Amino acid sequence: MDTRPVGIFDSGFGGLTVLRAINDLMPNERLVYFGDSARYPYGPKTREQVSAYSLQIAELLIERYDIKMLVVACNTASAQALPMLEERFAIPVVGMIEPGARALAMQSMGERIGVIGTVGTIGSGAYQTRLARIAPKKRLVCAATPGFVEFVERGETGSDQLKVLAERLLRPVIDAKVQTLLLGCTHYPFLARAISEVLGPETLLVSSSEETAFEVRGQLLDAALATEAGEPADIVYMTSGDPDEFRRIGRCLLGIDLRDVVSVKWAGE
Ligand code: DGL
Repeated sequence: MDTRPVGIFDSGFGGLTVLRAINDLMPNERLVYFGDSARYPYGPKTREQVSAYSLQIAELLIERYDIKMLVVACNTASAQALPMLEERFAIPVVGMIEPGARALAMQSMGERIGVIGTVGTIGSGAYQTRLARIAPKKRLVCAATPGFVEFVERGETGSDQLKVLAERLLRPVIDAKVQTLLLGCTHYPFLARAISEVLGPETLLVSSSEETAFEVRGQLLDAALATEAGEPADIVYMTSGDPDEFRRIGRCLLGIDLRDVVSVKWAGE
């Protein structure tokens, strides 16, 4: 039994969808969440930038909170920086691509599958490579949906402007008659209703948050790092953005009070 916290990070609010799934599955695990709101979106940034940001956050979580596992709750950072993080640190590192691809392969109905994500994630080819291996018979369509993350970061999950953008960006998914679509960005479950309204009821939306939570639990148990008993554990939230804003939008997205949000200021930001 190891009661050190699990560290989770994202470019902003998206990783909260993963945090929620981990907390549902393992309420006794202490969690520390970092949302890099001062530097989102990660999607359009280069691999070097996303890697540098990810490394900086991982070091902060390890030094300040002595985390026992790092969850990269951001598809873009997973696609661009996961191997580097795994090599760099001795603690287990869990990313989104493998659980996401698995969730899509397991839940897909029919042969036409799709993945939407940021420009960084789709451009990296990470899902294309993984799915070619685990679901070679499926026909895969991938589409980048730049701009979605910004709507979530503003707490805007159902506006007309979002709908207009979704209708345009989801066109390749509609045209390919995708039957099962992976939300390949941790921000997108907050937009699931708007996305579903555009795609219609025939398209099943798959989120990778739950599968990632199962992956976290499996790895914690295998490495004898799980906190198996006790009271529901505390969650610490940190942001590089404005803590009051983080708390306000976090409450609006998750429907719970994030209580004290710790502020972290990057030098030069
Ligand atoms: N939640 C991040 C992801 O899963 C969004 C990246 C961004 O900030 O653009 O990719």
